[in-house]
Amino acid sequence: MPLKRKDILSIDALSCEEIDLILQTAESFKEVSTRDIKKVPALRGKTIINLFFEPSTRTRTSFELAGKRLSADVINISAASSSAVKNETILDTARNIEAMHSDFIVVRHSASGVPQLLAGVLRSAVINAGDGAHQHPSQGLLDLMTIKEKKGEIKGLKVVIVGDILHSRVARSDIQGLVKYGAEVCVVGPPTLIPSGIERWGVKVSLHMDEALVGADIIIVLRLQLERQSRGFFPTLREYAMLYGLNQNRLNLADPEVLVMHPGPINRGIELSSEIADGLSSVILDQVTNGLAVRMALFFLLSEGSQH
Ligand code: CP
Repeated sequence: MPLKRKDILSIDALSCEEIDLILQTAESFKEVSTRDIKKVPALRGKTIINLFFEPSTRTRTSFELAGKRLSADVINISAASSSAVKNETILDTARNIEAMHSDFIVVRHSASGVPQLLAGVLRSAVINAGDGAHQHPSQGLLDLMTIKEKKGEIKGLKVVIVGDILHSRVARSDIQGLVKYGAEVCVVGPPTLIPSGIERWGVKVSLHMDEALVGADIIIVLRLQLERQSRGFFPTLREYAMLYGLNQNRLNLADPEVLVMHPGPINRGIELSSEIADGLSSVILDQVTNGLAVRMALFFLLSEGSQH
């Protein structure tokens, strides 16, 4: 069954049936990356352009590898080495790229809404690789995949999302996905980093980390997005780490089978201690492995859909 949509812009727009299809397809693609020859011909002749206007390690590399493992031609463009530095607009950049007959444009941008803008004017499939503090749908999907893989069922799980919710596109995508599947989501962080009215998204809010962690099945720790913070949202990093950093004492409050997740990059010693990041409860590197499979699935399913 193909995915009957041109673009992937947000988790909110995807139904549970579509997400199930993406995750099942991703599961089947995981095996490709364990082969000696890590390649299948599914996207032979297709062209993918990765257009990254913000730094990235995991997302950019895995979109590139996903395309290459499916035998597509993949080109990476970063803002610093593009004509964006000569004031070319994002629309002109994208239209010029499409004039070279791209099939997919993967875009990351600091401004919320850029992927939607491009999707509205381009023939190419547009995949949102993170736009401002708005959405990071492929991260949301890989997080759902990791939780389903490890826990079987998402419904009824107690998920605690800790940290800079206000600036986090990962939090928005994760919350939308988790609530769709019936998880009990609680966000915790300093009051200045919790968006007002967030309860309307179907989550609980706590300002007390220790209280929120009791019995948690999943803890998703977020990075402080210092690059998006226009003013001081908390007194010092030391105080933040003391009140909201995840350490072993705090982890002991959660369910004994708790999983610790983090989208990366980690600020070790601030939001997460190294003993937890590298400990037995951590599935952070499983998230990265699943990210590659999810991105292969997205290219494959969108490509199949465009042929119907
Ligand atoms: N999770 C994530 O988006 O990481 P990168 O910024 O390294 O892509």
